[in-house]
Formats: sequence, structure tokens, C-alpha cells
Amino acid sequence: MSRIAYVNGSFVPENEAKVSIFDRGFLFADGVYEVTPVVKGKLVDYDAHAIRLDRSLGELKMAWPCTKGELRAMHEELIKRNNLHEGIIYMQVTRGVADRMFNFPKEIKSSLVAFPQVMKLVDNPNAKVGVKVVTTPDLRWARRDIKTVMLLAPVLGKEEAYQKGAAEAWMVEDGKVTEGTSSNAYIVKNNTVITRPVSNSILNGCTRRALFRLAAEHGVKIEERLFTPEEAYAADEAFLTSASQFVMPITEVDGHRVGGGQVGPVARKLRELFLEEATKD
Ligand code: PDD
Repeated sequence: MSRIAYVNGSFVPENEAKVSIFDRGFLFADGVYEVTPVVKGKLVDYDAHAIRLDRSLGELKMAWPCTKGELRAMHEELIKRNNLHEGIIYMQVTRGVADRMFNFPKEIKSSLVAFPQVMKLVDNPNAKVGVKVVTTPDLRWARRDIKTVMLLAPVLGKEEAYQKGAAEAWMVEDGKVTEGTSSNAYIVKNNTVITRPVSNSILNGCTRRALFRLAAEHGVKIEERLFTPEEAYAADEAFLTSASQFVMPITEVDGHRVGGGQVGPVARKLRELFLEEATKD
């Protein structure tokens, strides 16, 4: 069965879901997006994604494409029409359609598209054994706090990781890890989780925020500071977080086995806490 997608007010079969060649998302990457997890047919942490979307739109002076209530209803309708039990809803807002010009066209209306992807989030087999990451230079622009669709550097980084048999690339700037190509990055040393503080250099992950709350509730210490790839090689554990991976243990960084190449107890516990919350009825 083909998926049902959403395009500017209509739910349509995916092969009929089309946008204009003049859409500024296509021409300029002039757009933003969100990826919201779905577990047991329900959106996980939807409000955090809606708040970040609002911020991304504001930073780019882009108008909301619909009301906040309509956006949530659209997400829920996509779940229903696709009978989505587990996976993600991808949604993208662009500045809209206009003849090609760099400055903002006047009286332009934002475009909104969305579609579901089926994924194994809870019983992801990678979580049992952990994944490998490699490091790569961070080639992105200076406003990584805005979740734009300008993802060429992450595409190149992820491909490099796959070519090297890894699942993710950690990007490095000035000798320090910024984040993964589509995830936030963490190491654990002496039972303390170490992760980069939020700034314009990284995306403020919704999963990261949830992790901070769960860690505080369950007595897991977090230190926000920059760390180097070498510290990661020598760490007790490493892991990443994102809406599509939740908490994913890492067992190798640039070929160095972390924590003896085993999934560590802190990452395992944090994943369990996250899943407990995501799967509760
Ligand atoms: N990526 N950092 C970057 C660069 C990301 O692209 C993402 C998410 C994150 C984690 O944010 P969150 O926890 O809100 O998903 C951090 C999504 C999943 C993607 O592009 O598919």
C-alpha cells in the first residue's frame, strides 16, 4: 500500500504528492523541518518539536503555514490515514513558491509538506549491540541551532560513515566534537555524561532535552562541556540521541573500542528510561 502524504492542505497518495520547481526549499534550501517519533500510534514529545519549529521559523522570519492546532491535527491525521504504529512523521515548511530571487518575495505563502516513515524505534536491533561512529570535519554553516533543510554537509558526513562501516559521523570543529550528522553526541566518564552545551554550533535536540530531564529525575550526572575525539576514544561509554534513534549506544569511535566494545550501563539505563516514557499508555 502506498503512503498518504500531506501537501499544502491535501492528503494525497505519495505518487501524487508534488511541489513546484519554484519552491524555495528546492531552489535555496529556504526551509525548516521537524522529525517527530510515533510509538504505539501516538506522537512522542510533540510539543517540544512544535516549540522548536516555532523558533526555527522565527529565526528565519518565515510565517507559520497554518495554525498550531492545525499542524498537530495534520500529524494525527497522517498517523491515522497511514495506520502508522511506529516510525516518524517528517514535516517541512518552506518560504513558499515564487520566481527565483534571493531576497524574500513579497506576499509569499509558506509551503507545508509531511509524510510518515515506518521505523523500528523501540526494538531497534542496533541498540542491543551498539553502533560505530567516525569523526569528520564539520562543514556546516554558523546557525546549526536552526533546523533547516540545508543538509548537504550531513549527507556527505553520513555517507562517509557508511562507507567506513559506521552508522553515524561525529562532526569536529576546532578539535572538538560538535554533534552527529543527525543526532547529538555524548560520552560518559566516571559515571558522568559529558555533552556539548547548546549554542549556535549545534541543534538543541528534543531527545537531548528529554534526556536531561530523565537524568535529573534518576540521579544521572550531566556535565555540559566540549570534548575531543581523543576523549571519546578513552571514554567509558559513548552514545547519541535523536528522534529516530532515541538513546543509541556507541561501541566504537574511529576504530577505537569504547567501553571494551560493549554497550555501557549508563547508555542502557538512559535508553530504558526513555523507552519507558515513550511506550507508556
Ligand atoms: N535529526 N543534531 C542534528 C544535526 C540533527 O539533525 C538532529 C535530528 C539532532 C537531534 O535532535 P532531536 O532529538 O530533536 O531529533 C541533533 C533528525 C532526526 C533528522 O534529521 O532525521
